[in-house]
This record gives sequence, C-alpha cells and structure tokens, in this order.
Amino acid sequence: MSDIAKLETDLLAAIASAKDEAALEAVRVSALGKSGAITALLKTLGAMTPEQRKEQGPAINGLKDKVGAAIAAAKENLAASALDARLNSETVDVTLPLRETPAETGRIHPISQVIDELTAIFADMGFAVAEGPDIETDDYNFTKLNFPEGHPAREMHDTFYFPPKPDGSRLLLRTHTSPVQVRTMLSQKPPIRVIIPGRTYRSDSDQTHTPMFHQVEGLVIDKSAHMGHLKWILEEFCKAFFEVDQVKMRFRPSFFPFTEPSMEVDIQCKRDKGEIRFGEGSDWLEILGCGMVHPNVLRNCGLDPDEYQGFAWGMGIDRIAMLKYGMPDLRAFFEADVRWLNHYGFRPLDFPTLAGGLSP
Ligand code: DAH
Repeated sequence: MSDIAKLETDLLAAIASAKDEAALEAVRVSALGKSGAITALLKTLGAMTPEQRKEQGPAINGLKDKVGAAIAAAKENLAASALDARLNSETVDVTLPLRETPAETGRIHPISQVIDELTAIFADMGFAVAEGPDIETDDYNFTKLNFPEGHPAREMHDTFYFPPKPDGSRLLLRTHTSPVQVRTMLSQKPPIRVIIPGRTYRSDSDQTHTPMFHQVEGLVIDKSAHMGHLKWILEEFCKAFFEVDQVKMRFRPSFFPFTEPSMEVDIQCKRDKGEIRFGEGSDWLEILGCGMVHPNVLRNCGLDPDEYQGFAWGMGIDRIAMLKYGMPDLRAFFEADVRWLNHYGFRPLDFPTLAGGLSP
C-alpha cells in the first residue's frame, strides 16, 4: 500500500471514530493544519520533477479533497446527533404552573379587600366616598353630634385624648366615623349621599376588640329620604356583600345621641361549629347602628330640619370581614404576621367589582 493510500485509510478511520466535534477537530488539525500530514505532503510537490508532480499532484490533492469532504460530512452528523441528544434531554413541561411575578406575590389585607368590596357595592348605588382626619376635635366627635357635655354616652366611647391645649380643649382620636358626617354636611349642600370608610380608636382590647378598628359610615340627606330607603339600602348591601340571595334583618330600637329614632340591625344567621352562615338559621348577629339624623345635628351643621332630613348608619368593617371570611381573632388583623396574610390575604390583581365578582 502506498503512503498516500495508507494515510487515507488511517485518516478516514480516525474521522469515523471521532466521538464529538472536538475529537474531529483534532483529526482535522493533524491532517490539514499547519503541520498536518496532508499539508506536509502538499509541501513536497514544490521539490518534485514535473513528471513526479504530474503523478503525485492529483493523488495528494485528491486525498486532501476526500479527507476535507469526510470531515465536513462527519461534522454535520455530529452536530445533528448533538442536537438530537439535547432535544431528548431538555424537555419543557408546558403544563407546569407559571412562577408568580413579584407584582402578584404580595397580598391585599382583608380589611383593604373588604373596603374595596363595600365601596364597589355602595358606588353602584350612587354613593360617593368621603374622608376625614383620624385626629378630631371634641366638637366634631361629640358636641355637634348632639352628645351633651358630661353625658354618659361620651364615657362609653373609651376615648383616647391628647394632652389639653393651653385653652383647655383636647384633641382626640376619633371614636367613630360619625364626625365625618358633620364635616360633610358643613362642606356640601344636600342632596348628600356618601359613605365614609376609615380608622377609629377606642381604649379596648380582646378577641373581638382592638384599640384601632374600622367603621364605614353612611349618610343620606335630602328633602325626602326616609327609613324605607335606609332599610332597602342595608338589605341590598348585605345581600351583595355576603353574596347570598336572601338575608333576614331585624331592626331593634336603640339609642344614639345623633339619631332619632335610632336602631340596631341584626342579621339572621346559623352558627355551626364556629362557622357562620347567612340567609338561614335562627341566630341573630348585630352588625350596625343606624337611624334618622337628629334635627339637632342638622341644625348644628347649618341645615334647616324643616327643609332637610336623612338617615345615617355606622357599621364595623372588621366585624363584617371576620364574618364573611371566617377569621376568628380580630387581633391577628394587626399583628403583621406574613403567614396570616398569606393565608387570609387576597391576590393584588383580583380587584373586586360587581360585574366581575366581589371576592375571588
Ligand atoms: N357611631 C356609632 C358607633 O360608633 C355607630 C352609628 C350608629 C353610626 C348610628 C351612625 C348611626 O351613623 O346613625 O357606635
């Protein structure tokens, strides 16, 4: 066998047995690289006689072409099988759930959720949202709401007072959202139709009371608003909020200085092993106070009680949140425990609407 024929056999065998592209490249360098075997043969052509060259030239160039083509073909094969191997090992399960984006991992606190829910319901009935400060004057929190000086109702509120000012007056943390009724009547002309969700404060703490809690006040003032409207609004609200077809409500006579007559409202429910269901059962649960706005309050706010009348209510937001979402201890609401929030919180992009559903 000539040297050229042997070299060809050896190189083709090496090409055939190259297991990957790196091994193949090593064969290429050993044959066609700067100091490769075929390159060396090509260099010998220059020193040959024309006759020798005529014979050897085609043989050596033929070898170069053959080996070059074999390397190119092997390279293509290796690339194809490398791709096949990758496709077989790197599978993607398109049925896996998506990882949550940062915008979706936070949770909305149940209180914020419930405020959004009740705002959606009352907005649908034509109510606007009004706000007032947490730090109030004694005048707005009590006096203008027809609490007489020294009346025991003031003590019942367990008020947090600030130190007295030089003139003897004391600011306080509002004990209810009712002072915003006063602010609204002083700043807007009737007809008035507002809800006032917000923070309220009383010195009280146990499983169902926290020193800071939330109320939503409602106020309607015009020339003909009456208790029938009040009843309808509260019933519609409860049905929409608790997402039931029927709620039975009971209006009991009560007392608040700023309403006459005054009532407390219970809703019918069934208590079963710590769970509460609405629209059935024989138990009653108090959820709010309400009444027709007292003529003295209208007068204190610059409205003529012979011309205007209306009604108001005040409802505990924390209370209805606990009821709707089955959260047994109010204190956990304000402990900022991420585990609690992950469990009871709401997804940030599930915004409650009447059309799309209030609660996910
Ligand atoms: N402000 C009362 C409270 O905190 C609740 C209340 C009762 C509000 C009757 C009202 C109302 O507007 O008419 O206990």
